Amino acid sequence: MKILVIGGGGREHALVWAIRKSEEVTEVVCAPGNGGIAQIARCTPVDVNDLAAMVAVVEAEKPALTVVGPEVPLALGLVDALEERKMRVFGPTQAAARLETSKAFAKEFMQRNDIPTAAYAVCTTLDEVREQLVRFSVPVVVKADGLAAGKGVVICETRLQAEAAAAQMFSGALLGTQETEVVLEEFLDGEELSFFALCDGRHAVPIAAAQDHKRVGEGDTGPNTGGMGAYSTDGLLTPAMRQWLTKNVAQKVVDGMKSDGHAFKGILFCGIMMTARGPMVLEFNTRFGDPETQAILMRMETDVLDLFNASIDENAAQLSVKMRTGASVCIIAASGGYPGRYASGKPIHGLDEQPSEDVVVFHSGTAIKDGQLVTAGGRVLAITAVDSDLREALDKAYAEIAKISFEGMQYRRDIGHRALRQEQL
Ligand code: AMP
Ligand code: GLY
Repeated sequence: MKILVIGGGGREHALVWAIRKSEEVTEVVCAPGNGGIAQIARCTPVDVNDLAAMVAVVEAEKPALTVVGPEVPLALGLVDALEERKMRVFGPTQAAARLETSKAFAKEFMQRNDIPTAAYAVCTTLDEVREQLVRFSVPVVVKADGLAAGKGVVICETRLQAEAAAAQMFSGALLGTQETEVVLEEFLDGEELSFFALCDGRHAVPIAAAQDHKRVGEGDTGPNTGGMGAYSTDGLLTPAMRQWLTKNVAQKVVDGMKSDGHAFKGILFCGIMMTARGPMVLEFNTRFGDPETQAILMRMETDVLDLFNASIDENAAQLSVKMRTGASVCIIAASGGYPGRYASGKPIHGLDEQPSEDVVVFHSGTAIKDGQLVTAGGRVLAITAVDSDLREALDKAYAEIAKISFEGMQYRRDIGHRALRQEQL
């Protein structure tokens, strides 16, 4: 069976790696892929911002199944386009992906379906922002409505700052595109958790939870990034909390989307804040997370194809996703300057073929130039390890990263710090 994966980051490398383990799979193609994916699958170029080009690749490759990794193809309607052509595809339709692509939609949906989330106001003008700000205490959170790759959220210490952030979103100064809607949100305090559920339009089945590290600097300092590392452990989520989130968040999403006429199929990634008032949803994503997926797939014992098939064939209720006991971690090696400006094309040294069964170096942004592996993105490598406990997994991953170098390489040395601190309590 031939599988096609759309995307070219660390998440897609991990997906290709997991798919290749399935006995039914004979060939994996990745579009566009990257320097690391090219070592385990055939890569074919495509612009993931170009719907017609992606459809053309699927039509030419004729895979038994297409798996969509990133959010942009979902937002463009790739799943709809393939379904119209009667091609088998894993992921939500454009309308269902609105849970991720529009924060205003997601907030209204949560309110209507009684899903716990922060108080909010959707504003279309700066006057409205000023009017609404009065009823929020500070800090207050200002969010751009659309996809912003982690850059559309500003936590403001004063109302003046919030006004300025909203003004920059409306004018296009912040994100390069002018926002027509800006969301004001109550600031939530607590620990963040990424909770993943598999959905088939009618049922939501829990997969696993992971914790991301969004800030670039150690001790959670500096600007937000796409994610500098993640870990997943047995202890991150108690069985009772897992059940609670499945019932009160994921299943409510599936029920609500179904009754709206937009059945939700694919991965529901719930960004949760564990607050003193209980778990609250920060955001939804409608795809696997990056770097959470690298950590989760290293622990997953269930064949990943079973997840895709259960979602498409609408029998997820029969599926139980099994994870290896213990812990896994993923540490991102990023280009110097990321998440700001950074250089690309730097040669990467010290990468062994395959360090050991429990350590995999997934590639986030690499390319092959003149036969040499070079950097080709802000996030470059995702060093991922699995073991019987978090400390062991961290030791393995950090031992591996110590062998790797490229000019300007930066990484956080404190991945998993919250869990390690909890262990000491
Ligand atoms: P989002 O894209 O909505 O997940 O926001 C990105 C990050 O901003 C989150 O992972 C949080 O760290 C932070 N954030 C978003 N909304 C809030 C909120 N209401 N309170 C506190 N932090 C938030
Ligand atoms: N790690 C966060 C994301 O994938 O959006």
